[in-house]
Amino acid sequence: MIGTMTEPEDDPRHAAAGAACTARLRMEPLSAAHAPRLFPLLADPRLYTYVPDAARASVDLLAERFDELARGAPADAGERWLNWVLVRRDNDEAIGTLQATVEPDARAGIGYVLVSAAWGQGFATEACRWLVAELARRHAVREVLASVDVRNHKSIAVLERVGFERMAMHAAELRGEATTDYVYRMLCAP
Ligand SMILES: CC(C)(COP(=O)(O)OP(=O)(O)OC[C@H]1O[C@@H](n2cnc3c(N)ncnc32)[C@H](O)[C@@H]1OP(=O)(O)O)[C@@H](O)C(=O)NCCC(=O)NCCS
Repeated sequence: MIGTMTEPEDDPRHAAAGAACTARLRMEPLSAAHAPRLFPLLADPRLYTYVPDAARASVDLLAERFDELARGAPADAGERWLNWVLVRRDNDEAIGTLQATVEPDARAGIGYVLVSAAWGQGFATEACRWLVAELARRHAVREVLASVDVRNHKSIAVLERVGFERMAMHAAELRGEATTDYVYRMLCAP
């Protein structure tokens, strides 16, 4: 179920940065410093076909957004924001982002974006498997949830490969248009 992973402390090069690794990926905690590398890659409109987000207009705006995410949820929100950049270990290229919002009731919602050049190689599946394990192990999460547009077949395939089950379907909105989302769920073993 859970992908191959290495504890950060197994690899001294990554321990200082707080990164973790799977077989092919390094998950680096997101920071504003990632913005220049990711800006041109995240400018691709195809990444936003089924997600309620959009490319930032400049590196500075992306850096501001990354900084906001990295600082985490407001103290009174009761939730934790976890964000990483996915980096290929073989060539050090940044290929996407991974995020989770951990709620106080031991549930977490997740999201992921891969740059289009990295599609079709199993990187999102590998990252998502790591994320589920990480949430259970380090954040005491018992239920992981993901909402996905019913037309987003690539993302649905990722969730189903990782072992998520489709639980529900509900009305949603995407840039002012009525859409439909599936809710996927995975229970974590205690
Ligand atoms: C959703 C998204 C991450 C899926 O990317 P993806 O490349 O299809 O997913 P994976 O990285 O897991 O790769 C799966 C593909 O790699 C292939 N693959 C190759 N090696 C593999 C491996 N070791 N393990 C798993 N799959 C592998 C699979 O067969 C599959 O191929 P297919 O697309 O021809 O069926 C990507 O489309 C994306 O970023 N979209 C924009 C943002 C978005 O929609 N995010 C989700 C919001 S809910």
